[in-house]
Amino acid sequence: MNDETSALAGKRSLGTLAVIGCSKVVAGMWRVREWNMSAAALNRYVQESMALGVTTFDHADIYGGGEVEALFGDALAQTPSLRAKMQIVSKAGIRPRGSSAGAVGVKHYDTSRTYLQAAVEHSLQRLKTDHLDLFLIHRPDHLANNDEIADAAESLIREGKIRAFGVSNFTTRQFDSLRAKVALATNQIEFSPFELQALDDDVFTALSSAAVSPMIWSALGGGRLFSETDELAVRLRRELTTLAEKYNASSWVSIVYAWIFTLPCAPYVLVGSRRLESLQQAVDGSGVKLSREDWYAILEAARGKPVL
Ligand SMILES: NC(=O)c1ccc[n+]([C@@H]2O[C@H](COP(=O)([O-])OP(=O)(O)OC[C@H]3O[C@@H](n4cnc5c(N)ncnc54)[C@H](OP(=O)(O)O)[C@@H]3O)[C@@H](O)[C@H]2O)c1
Repeated sequence: MNDETSALAGKRSLGTLAVIGCSKVVAGMWRVREWNMSAAALNRYVQESMALGVTTFDHADIYGGGEVEALFGDALAQTPSLRAKMQIVSKAGIRPRGSSAGAVGVKHYDTSRTYLQAAVEHSLQRLKTDHLDLFLIHRPDHLANNDEIADAAESLIREGKIRAFGVSNFTTRQFDSLRAKVALATNQIEFSPFELQALDDDVFTALSSAAVSPMIWSALGGGRLFSETDELAVRLRRELTTLAEKYNASSWVSIVYAWIFTLPCAPYVLVGSRRLESLQQAVDGSGVKLSREDWYAILEAARGKPVL
């Protein structure tokens, strides 16, 4: 283990996402199969994203039943020099029911050492790379053995197959109990004006105390924010449009990202769009400094009532 990987493996390492060079705006690959892109088109998307400063790409072994990682690997193979300038995140631990690779009769979670190590190997093969910059447990496993998970993560880091390790969709208690055994770089969680639970329970507060940045998924409610008929979406768009004018922002969408980037836990935000303009809107949002009052105005629109 070199000094850097040893620092990343150390329990007290701070700000690991920054250490491994993740961009604050991360391109989410979940929906890539719906984009119907060829490897050449995805290669262009990746290169243009990176030109915007979005150098981190989020995957999971189950996205498209493994097809998303494979297509990304084909896209990467067209310009191998890109690999050193990007960060690849992937996740494992969900075993879907069905016929795709890793599928089983009953959908379940598997965080056994053997399963996690095999899952990383398969992701590396599909992605045509020799390491993941960040490997996450996709969802908490009710049958988890934290010592076994810690052993698996530490050997993957030692072998150079992953640079850092983290989790996704963990409660604070689940996060803290695993973090007592192994360094965690992040907890990737859902948060948006439609999904406020991480704010209402203590997930963000606990991450701030641990100096660990969350990664936020479905920041735009998975596209719900664009629905014409959704009353909450309409109310939010009205508020966001007013603020976009006030802050001279390129789009009201940027204000949503600004709202998330304002959180003291220093989040990284995933964008799930096929369009580069959407990535640009998120990048622009990172530069907007909302006042405290305006931040609470968005929360009020999200909840439909003022704070107590
Ligand atoms: N850890 C987990 O359990 C978990 C769960 C879900 C997702 N994720 C990760 O988070 C990423 C983002 O999630 P998401 O796709 O639900 O996020 P999202 O960014 O909230 O939603 C993306 C959807 O909104 C649409 N959209 C329309 N206008 C948009 C605009 N201006 N900007 C952005 N999107 C716009 C997109 O369609 P167009 O493509 O047409 O723009 C797309 O269908 C995923 O790709 C995945 O990597 C992780």
